[in-house]
Amino acid sequence: MQLPAHGSNPDHLFKALDMEPPAEMVDFSVNINPLGAPREIKHHWQNWLGDIADYPDPSAAQLKQAIAANEGVREACLLIGNGASELITLIARYLYGKKVLIIHPAFSEYASACKNEHCTIFYHIVHPPNWQLKKASLEQEIKAVDAVFFCHPNNPTGVQYDSSTIDWLIDTCHQAKTLLIIDEAFYDFSSNPISSMKQASQSPYLLVLRSLTKMYSIAGLRLGFLAGHPELLARIGTSQPHWSINAIALKAGAVCLNNHQHSKQTRAYISAERERLFSYFKENNFQHSPGSVNFYLIRDPSLGDQQELFLFLLRSGIVLRHTYNFPGLEGKWLRAAVKKEAENNWLMEALSEWKKGN
Ligand SMILES: Cc1ncc(COP(=O)(O)O)c(C=O)c1O
Repeated sequence: MQLPAHGSNPDHLFKALDMEPPAEMVDFSVNINPLGAPREIKHHWQNWLGDIADYPDPSAAQLKQAIAANEGVREACLLIGNGASELITLIARYLYGKKVLIIHPAFSEYASACKNEHCTIFYHIVHPPNWQLKKASLEQEIKAVDAVFFCHPNNPTGVQYDSSTIDWLIDTCHQAKTLLIIDEAFYDFSSNPISSMKQASQSPYLLVLRSLTKMYSIAGLRLGFLAGHPELLARIGTSQPHWSINAIALKAGAVCLNNHQHSKQTRAYISAERERLFSYFKENNFQHSPGSVNFYLIRDPSLGDQQELFLFLLRSGIVLRHTYNFPGLEGKWLRAAVKKEAENNWLMEALSEWKKGN
């Protein structure tokens, strides 16, 4: 079975499986805020039309000011990207030909971007049920590589680690002079967020990556940023194309970051829905990862490979994310986003139907 490598495009998935898409479907494979974009985006949209004739501000000054004010870091410690994905590509280019360790399971783009740049990739795989780092072996592995990618909170497990683990990882990389890249794309969905951004601005061995596309539901606009030491950012930024971030994304980003209410409301909504789902899973004998953000892993413990459940849900119009291309998961779990209440209900109803027949 040849499945698309990413979530977020159900049409590709149904085509790859040679299946007729059902009349109604919900895409649980994409981890975007179910409450949508902040209201101000729609409000300003017409005015922003006037900006499309000019080149965007290459210094992204207004957006950097908004980030610096929110995060307490200097503007010089920020590099803006056309989505976090562009920044991952730039980091990989900077790491050309180097040895890179990825703590897995994790977002698949670290490996693909680094492979494109002829890096040698090593994996440190964490396992259920707690997905903890194996510090003794990891310490040795860190000493043997040039860079480490760590997704925190983790995509796809949704696990957030305690601050002592994060501090240990930062210190261990620093002592080994190994560059640590912490991807905090989903940081703001956590009810108790832990960020390493401030440390990144002071260390030559730490970069922290953020995406604005998930919390603010602007995946089509593309916006992300990287925090780190200014000299390191200057080297990474040399291969970024001119005017890579469009003028509307720059404006929208500043507006989003100034709306603290939107992310606060989202966190409360997600947390309540996640707890409702997790109670249902417990009562109905589905295993789930201890997700702390807007997605989680789920499996029926009576199956090894979850393909049958995946296909059953697809036929019901429910599109989950397969995990065949996540080292350490290999199809034994499915990933689902926390969606709106009615959509989560639909998922639970379909899972109950599945249990009746299995
Ligand atoms: C962990 C992680 N980092 C980065 C990205 C890329 O985000 P962006 O939309 O900002 O390029 C994604 C996208 O799914 C992701 O899951």
